[in-house]
Amino acid sequence: MMKLDYWLSDANVPWQAYQSQLSTIHNKLKTKEDDYTGWMDWPLRIEQSLVQDILATADDIRSKCTALVVIGIGGSYLGAKACIELLQSPFYNEYYAGQQNRPRIYFAGHHLSSIYYEELLDRLNSEEVCVCVISKSGTTLEPSIVFDLFRSYMRERYGITEAAKRIYAITDAEKGTLRAEADEQGYKTFVVPDDIGGRYSVLTPVGLLPIAVAGIDIVSMLEGAAQAAKVYDNADLAHNICYQYGALRHYLQERGKVIEIFEVYEGRLRYFTEWLKQLFGESECKDGKGVIPMSLQMSTDLHSMGQFLQDGRQIFFETVLTVSNIRKDVSLENCRMSGKAASMHMLNQIVEESARKAHLENNTPNIRLTVSELSARAFGHMVYFFEKACAVSCYLTGVQPFDQPGVEAYKCNIKAAIK
Ligand code: PA5
Repeated sequence: MMKLDYWLSDANVPWQAYQSQLSTIHNKLKTKEDDYTGWMDWPLRIEQSLVQDILATADDIRSKCTALVVIGIGGSYLGAKACIELLQSPFYNEYYAGQQNRPRIYFAGHHLSSIYYEELLDRLNSEEVCVCVISKSGTTLEPSIVFDLFRSYMRERYGITEAAKRIYAITDAEKGTLRAEADEQGYKTFVVPDDIGGRYSVLTPVGLLPIAVAGIDIVSMLEGAAQAAKVYDNADLAHNICYQYGALRHYLQERGKVIEIFEVYEGRLRYFTEWLKQLFGESECKDGKGVIPMSLQMSTDLHSMGQFLQDGRQIFFETVLTVSNIRKDVSLENCRMSGKAASMHMLNQIVEESARKAHLENNTPNIRLTVSELSARAFGHMVYFFEKACAVSCYLTGVQPFDQPGVEAYKCNIKAAIK
């Protein structure tokens, strides 16, 4: 389902040395030595009753509303956003949601733009609304504030009792103010597993509920992830592209390539790279170490950042995410400049290859990860691939993959400022 290719100017990757390090890391992960490693076997152990409950709740939401507001930030937001962008039409909210009898989905709580919330609340007046609030800690400032706003809106519009039937909460089993409120008000709730951290939680109710509401097949998604959990449970580097990718990232980092630029040629993968930025950035960039993740969307950024890629400081490597089979292709039969390229997808592949060749002339290392198709199954597979690759990369770098001490500092400042 995934394929790895790479082009390096020097081909001296010490695979044997990596093999011995990775064997140790493999066992460390497999035996769940660290906390927050529950994602490792989650797709293999998720209970069917939970999946059925999520599907039934998604149906319930669909029957009640024409617009679902999903409130969350970081790991409680990006996975669902990435999946819906990847698998639903870019015109889903504007057109298809109405046609397919599914609610439009609006994300909130990941920023504090007053303009956005004013416009969103105005927009909701012509919709039947449900709200899904997601916060593992139940105390994160941005989603908490935004949820306060939407709780008031819902109560004003539907009354306290009906509003409670339209609010869904995904949070810790016991801790946090959101859990206390949900229990008191009788919201339908789902639990974020204790042993899975925010950015590793997309395959739990955190991602699964909004994704299921959008009509995406979460059963296939979990099957894709379960398949990946088996495929990448292989300590042999020669047969594990997930570990090969982790080793390559580390090799390049050691050679001063401190920026990883995730590049996509298919727009539907754009938010997947946002999810990747969070996964790698929050997991690996600590203690003065790690590779900074960036993302570019091609061809758009070839006409801007392409200058930097070709000619700028050589402190980066490119990781290109491509898709081999595209469901819908556009014939270029009548296009004047398409030459041998018979279809849009074919031309897009030629653009990718041409950019790679041009950058290689400048010795820019290039890693290409190709996924066979854009499907729920492939999404589940990719999520697991990158979660494991990220954990492995962090251990190779010598940092803890599952904490985020650096994110706390600004929160303390806010607390002090609004006291
Ligand atoms: O990966 C993480 O742990 C973070 O990005 C969290 O997901 C994010 O801070 C949101 O936290 P919470 O779900 O507790 O509101």
